[in-house]
This record gives sequence, C-alpha cells and structure tokens, in this order.
Amino acid sequence: MANIILLGPPGAGKGTQAKRLVDERGMVQLSTGDMLREAKSSGTAMGNRVAEVMARGELVTDEIVIGLIEEKLGQGAGGGFIFDGFPRTLKQADALGELLARTGQGLDAVIEMQVDDAALVARITGRFTCGNCGEVYHDATRPTKVAGTCDVCGSHDLKRRADDNEDALKTRLMEYYKKTSPLIGYYYAKGQLSSVDGLAEMDAVAAAVASVLDNA
Ligand code: AP5
Repeated sequence: MANIILLGPPGAGKGTQAKRLVDERGMVQLSTGDMLREAKSSGTAMGNRVAEVMARGELVTDEIVIGLIEEKLGQGAGGGFIFDGFPRTLKQADALGELLARTGQGLDAVIEMQVDDAALVARITGRFTCGNCGEVYHDATRPTKVAGTCDVCGSHDLKRRADDNEDALKTRLMEYYKKTSPLIGYYYAKGQLSSVDGLAEMDAVAAAVASVLDNA
C-alpha cells in the first residue's frame, strides 16, 4: 500500500493516471476538484460560492479543501490514497503532513507530471468526461468508441467543465505557478519528489508512474 501525490498543472493528466491506478491497483483517488464539483451541484450557498471561484479558475480556500480531505482520510484506503489536485498550496501541504501523521499514515511518493503550457490548451479545450462514472476523454487523443456513449458504463451523459476554456485556463495556470509550483521544491527538499514526462503517450506515462510506485 502506498500513498502518493500527483502534482502538475491543469491538464497534466493527473485524473487520467489516477483512474488507471484505481483500476489496476485498487487505490483510492482523492480528487479535491471532483469533491468540489460535487459540493457545487448541491445548490447550497457554499456550493454556489465554490462554483463561482472554480469557474474563474481561482483556488478555493485552504480551509474548505483541507476539511474535505480530513473527512476522507479518516475512512482509510486499503490500496493507498492518490491525492489528485491536492495539496495546491504550502499550507495544504503542511496540513496533509499533519493529517497523515495523526492517522498513523505516511506519504510514499510525490509524482510531478511535467508538461508544457502549449500542450495544455489543446488538452483542456478538448476534454470531456462521463457524468455517470467520471471516465475522462478527449476529442482528439481519446474519443469514445461510439460517439456520445461512454465506453466504460454506456451512459450518454458526457459533459464539458465550466472552467475548461482558454480564459479560465490562463487564471488556472497563473494560480498553479504562483501557489502550487513551490511544492516541487518543498517535496524535493524532503527527498520525496519524482518527475515523469507528462507529454508522453498515456501508456508510457502510466509505465513511468508505475515504476515510481514500485520503487517507493
Ligand atoms: P481540478 O479538478 O483538480 O483540475 P486541475 O488541477 O485544473 O486539473 P485537471 O482536472 O484540469 O487536469 P488533469 O491533470 O486531471 O488532466 P486530465 O487527466 O483530465 O481543479 C479544478 C478547480 O477546483 C481548481 O481550479 C480550483 O478552483 C478547485 N480546486 C481543486 N482542488 C483544489 C485545492 N486543493 N485547493 C484549492 N482549490 C482547488 O487530462 C486532461 C485531458 O488531456 C483529458 O482530455 C485527457 O484525456 C488528456 N490526456 C491526459 N493524459 C494525456 C496524455 N498522456 N497524452 C494525451 N492526452 C492526454
């Protein structure tokens, strides 16, 4: 069992690789983005505030996301946790370390997915997901086998995210470089950082991630 962080800018492929690890290794994906999108659809005042922040591409407050992770960590994960999109600030990274220590768990690896900004626009604007099972697709690189139908669960509920447009992506990238990229140095200093080429073909990225995990 291993607990890992997938670290990278929007569109780096964190969600895609996390879902493979869930299928192949029985790990538990903790995506704060997915959790916040669920809160958003609750229609509460808090959900509506979160929706506005996310649509602009800004980060939601540390307190909200740390609370979400704390709740999930208490539930335990047999195959280990994949932190996808969390932590995103130094405060969140410190909080994760404390939460893991408090629950008698450790962090085995932090995998930085390296990509360049030019590739991200195409990845983000071409992405769609299944509203039923969460499978991630792309118009060019991973279309569904039958147009309009999810390959995995057969649902026709295929969706595009409100923040998957060029304007919001600019803000998301700025937030990443200002607030999240310092975590690369933070985890490097702790001797926990590994980097993989996120621009490689999906299977090659998966093999590189597997190799980090197997050596963690
Ligand atoms: P979140 O949902 O976490 O989004 P993100 O970090 O912007 O990352 P993405 O989901 O956009 O990309 P990904 O790296 O998972 O890429 P994917 O695998 O889908 O966060 C959204 C918002 O929520 C934030 O902006 C913020 O407001 C809020 N939030 C979330 N967490 C927070 C936190 N901790 N603190 C504060 N606020 C928080 O791949 C993208 C596309 O590329 C797909 O179409 C895929 O098919 C394709 N693709 C993937 N890999 C490859 C490959 N190797 N080759 C070709 N195509 C590929």
